[in-house]
Amino acid sequence: MLSVRNLVKVYPGPVTALQGVSLDIGTGMFGLLGPNGAGKSTFMRILAGVLEPTSGTVTLDGRDVLSDLNSLWSVLGYLPQDFGFFPHLTGAAMLEYLLQLKGVASGKESKKLAAALLERVNLAYAAKRKVKEYSGGMRQRLGIAQAVAGDPRLIIVDEPTAGLDPEERHRFYRLLAELAERRTVLLSTHIVEDVAVLCPRFAVIRNGQVVAETSPTDARRMLAGAIFEGAVAVGDLDALQRTRRVTQAVLVEGRNHVRIHEPSHEAPAGFEPAVPTLEDAYFVLMHGKPNGTDNGDLAVPPGARVPSVAAHVPETPQEIGR
Ligand SMILES: Nc1ncnc2c1ncn2[C@@H]1O[C@H](COP(=O)(O)OP(=O)(O)OP(=O)(O)O)[C@@H](O)[C@H]1O
Ligand SMILES: [Mg+2]
Repeated sequence: MLSVRNLVKVYPGPVTALQGVSLDIGTGMFGLLGPNGAGKSTFMRILAGVLEPTSGTVTLDGRDVLSDLNSLWSVLGYLPQDFGFFPHLTGAAMLEYLLQLKGVASGKESKKLAAALLERVNLAYAAKRKVKEYSGGMRQRLGIAQAVAGDPRLIIVDEPTAGLDPEERHRFYRLLAELAERRTVLLSTHIVEDVAVLCPRFAVIRNGQVVAETSPTDARRMLAGAIFEGAVAVGDLDALQRTRRVTQAVLVEGRNHVRIHEPSHEAPAGFEPAVPTLEDAYFVLMHGKPNGTDNGDLAVPPGARVPSVAAHVPETPQEIGR
């Protein structure tokens, strides 16, 4: 179990990137979902031991990992958001170099290990091609190959699916899902589909705070009966957005197909009840008040089933006092 308590990061400026993040993360895939600038990379970099927090603790099975980075790195695989490659090296040569840097293999051994890893991430066919000729997805798979070298039990991947086309993304999903079968894999993303497809549990992070920690099923259940859909003319969308919580608007054949969150559970005129999606839940969580204190947004009407996991419950006086 990876336990994070009251993690705070203040960059010079000062910019407060994390405002006291606490999470418990077990085996399997855990998603960290949030928009640009939410603090995802800051969080991941601290957990990977490459950035020092201002305060807070991180333990892995009860052991303080930030005070013993060498033992953290021996069980960690990390794919940073901006992973640098040498474009003129072949995939195989790049990977061999990274394995030597990481200290998991040397000499002949690294050649053999690189070949096995390229096989594992489905890149053996491109081993001799230069990295500059790789697609975005191929580069990400090469990045994952170095991350999984040495069989780490904790893998941290920072926005690995950004910029991948749907086919590459799905190939990458399969690889990540396989890795998460017997490890902790922490994945950050701003793409809701990543979480829906991969993560039995996830947290939503906004402005350096965890605003919810839940499962995709519970997040959707929280909105049962409160989502409605209908179509409106293109020119009417602005007015609708001023008066209603529009969770999604998609143009179809010149009309806006709109989804609305209505906490009263009363259908607006011309709208029909709809099955909540994770996109709806993400919108609601992102637009509620931090720490799930916004009962107006997430209200459960009298008699309705109370969701088993709704939002992040503040744990410490510091958190409650924010
Ligand atoms: N080295 C730095 N110095 C100062 N401020 C920084 C630094 N790195 C990040 N920040 C700020 O900290 C906040 C969180 O940034 P971070 O990169 O962690 O967000 P993110 O969720 O990973 O965003 P993205 O989705 O764009 O990758 C932002 O306001 C950012 O501008
Ligand atoms: Mg980032």
